[in-house]
Amino acid sequence: MERFDQPDKFLHDAWHLLIKAAAKRKGDYQKPIIATIDADGFAQQRVVVLRDVDLQQRMLTLFTDARSEKVKALQDTPLLSWLFWDERKKVQIRMIGRVVLEQGSDRCQKLWDRLPVQGRTSYATVSAPGTPQEKDTVPLPDYWHADMDLEQTASAFEHFMVVTCQVFKVDLLHLHHEGHQRAQFEYQDGSWQGHWVTP
Ligand SMILES: Cc1cc2nc3c(=O)[nH]c(=O)nc-3n(C[C@H](O)[C@H](O)[C@H](O)COP(=O)(O)O)c2cc1C
Repeated sequence: MERFDQPDKFLHDAWHLLIKAAAKRKGDYQKPIIATIDADGFAQQRVVVLRDVDLQQRMLTLFTDARSEKVKALQDTPLLSWLFWDERKKVQIRMIGRVVLEQGSDRCQKLWDRLPVQGRTSYATVSAPGTPQEKDTVPLPDYWHADMDLEQTASAFEHFMVVTCQVFKVDLLHLHHEGHQRAQFEYQDGSWQGHWVTP
């Protein structure tokens, strides 16, 4: 990528890289790492799929199983840290925001309606993610199979959770052969305040 002239342009382009990745459903930015803090104070990280980006609302959306450990952590501390890296673009994007956890709402239903059976399988396991088990198989209900009608997948909807994160802090790093660039931003009083920092 070209060097950025202004921090604001850097922030603008970073958001648009994420919007594009979510919309096209591909690229490194579509698979960020999110971090939460667990009950013992450890940072817990995992890869997720970035499902949607709303620039006006500063919102990032992901889907998850409501029974997962990350949800317990978010119920305790509703803050999420995101890490995006694209090997070709050489831009690291770090974002922190406050989350809203949604289950069973109209919005959840609309997003669920767009998921194919394969996508719904992640939410269909009879035991919660992380439950110890004897075998290495996915514990799906007996009636579950790849060619089933979407209506038959209703039981999995109760585990489907939409996590929306409203970002208030951003740290951007651009690795560039003429010199790395880094900028930090905070959302204050209705607008982004940002400045260059030492990379
Ligand atoms: C490429 C990739 C994409 C993933 N996407 C998601 C996702 O969108 N949502 C999710 O909850 N887990 C996703 N996972 C699984 C998580 O990384 C993690 O293993 C799981 O959510 C359990 O995490 P937890 O115990 O910290 O809640 C994905 C994993 C990989 C490798």
